[in-house]
Amino acid sequence: MKRPELDAAWQALRAHRKEWKGLHLRELFRADKRRFERFSLRLNDLLLDYSKNLITQDTVRLLLRLAKAAELKEARAAMFSGRHINVTEDRAVLHTALRAPAELSLMVDGRNVMIDVRRVLKQMAAFVDKVHQGRWKGYSGQPIRDIVNIGIGGSDLGPAMVCQALTPYARPGINAHFVSNVDPTHLTETLKRLSPDTTLFVVASKTFTTQETLANAAAARAWLLQHAKDGRAVARHFVAVSTNREAVVNFGIDPDNMFEFWDWVGGRYSLWSAIGLPIALYLGMEHFDELLAGAHDMDQHFLSAPLAANMPVILGLLGIWYIDFWDAQTHAVLPYDQYLARLPAYLQQLDMESNGKSVTRDGRPVKHATGPIVFGEPGTNGQHAFYQLIHQGTRLVPCDFLIAAESHNPLDDQHEMLLANCFAQSEALMRGKTAAEVRAELKAQGLTKKEIARLLPHRVFPGNRPSNTLLYHRLNPRTLGRLIALYEHKVFVQSVIWDINAFDQWGVELGKQLARSILPELKSSEPARGHDASTNGLINYCKGLREEP
Ligand code: F6P
Repeated sequence: MKRPELDAAWQALRAHRKEWKGLHLRELFRADKRRFERFSLRLNDLLLDYSKNLITQDTVRLLLRLAKAAELKEARAAMFSGRHINVTEDRAVLHTALRAPAELSLMVDGRNVMIDVRRVLKQMAAFVDKVHQGRWKGYSGQPIRDIVNIGIGGSDLGPAMVCQALTPYARPGINAHFVSNVDPTHLTETLKRLSPDTTLFVVASKTFTTQETLANAAAARAWLLQHAKDGRAVARHFVAVSTNREAVVNFGIDPDNMFEFWDWVGGRYSLWSAIGLPIALYLGMEHFDELLAGAHDMDQHFLSAPLAANMPVILGLLGIWYIDFWDAQTHAVLPYDQYLARLPAYLQQLDMESNGKSVTRDGRPVKHATGPIVFGEPGTNGQHAFYQLIHQGTRLVPCDFLIAAESHNPLDDQHEMLLANCFAQSEALMRGKTAAEVRAELKAQGLTKKEIARLLPHRVFPGNRPSNTLLYHRLNPRTLGRLIALYEHKVFVQSVIWDINAFDQWGVELGKQLARSILPELKSSEPARGHDASTNGLINYCKGLREEP
């Protein structure tokens, strides 16, 4: 990276930000009739409208200068070609290969990884077919009706989010359930609704060492055996998805029932791999293939569109603009789509586990603020909960609105109501309501001058609050694939600008280590003494409570 060019690009943006004082989006829309055309992009039916952002053409030019100075194109090429860009784990990062066309060949560390990708996809297709055709039978000879994915983090959030999002495409007669939490309530409440004869467990763990997943899988196996009373039933009801064959075998799962993936697939980027098995089982392999094709569309767009017309690049740079120049701490993801209810949770892991870093790739403290706190809820629910702060609070909260033009469930004019609310929110955030407008409104309602003066400050909306809108025809597997890959690449773009490694997650380790040491202390009759006073106090008070009848 060429330091002087990069420093100059940051410097130029800082100077540009100072010039922003006083500019209002209302004025920018008034002054430029072509602002929507200028600041929107399309990929097939997917429209990204980014015109309601605090940007001018100069802002975009300067942000693109930053991307070039950070050698974004070179970094992108390095990722797609399988270079070991995950430097702390010395791994390639190739989730893009999982959705590449079958005929591609891609050499990584002397091996054509596409051969492995195709082999596992074929294995998945054969298995899915057996289950769907009722040829895969449970211990009592009945076909499978319920799939329970046992996994956490990247081995849960992606498949869970996608299965929910694509419910209209689900195969009749198959249900999908997701158990992630080590809280025994999660598994217990799930199993209450299921019959062991017709339930298939997919134990999903990249490492196959994750405490939560192994505990839930062992409990699920005990539940099955309690009913089946024959160890051979495990092979009919348990399959594993992992990179760790040895641990799968040690757990007691038949290696023939294992679906492999590889260390070059990061956990939070793994739904495209065999981790997507529950998706394929729930929706059918043809829909899983469509999901992959959608992600590949976005990969191609990311690779080939000029930076200025590149959706992930633009979204990534806008995020940088707000985080590093407007001091935004958060980013709201607001799907006006009930099927996307889990998208914010999925994006929390994707974004916060990837870019929640404070040292650069070579271990120096970062000079700029990095990843935002991601949060969100489906619209219109969020409007009646936290939007107040977004409209009138003291913080700047950049928002992404997502919505389909057509609903899978037309019901009177409810989808039009949803659309109207979505478009109204971004408009309200952008334009706000001036004191003059509020005064005129209250006057028309017959309020006295005194009453108007008292209420005015509360009723004014500052506006000038930024948002993107992603609008698509209908939420189908292909569109969803494009949307997820869009966010994956957005996160990558930002990591390149900040010069951080988006593909490790050392920050989750300390808590895991400490939990391992606290577990025996909770079980011991001796009081805990080895921690700070608070942690000792909590452990010992809890033990006291548990001894009470
Ligand atoms: O604790 C975080 C994490 O390592 C995530 O990165 C990962 O997706 C999740 O745990 C689950 O890991 P595994 O798939 O190895 O069980």
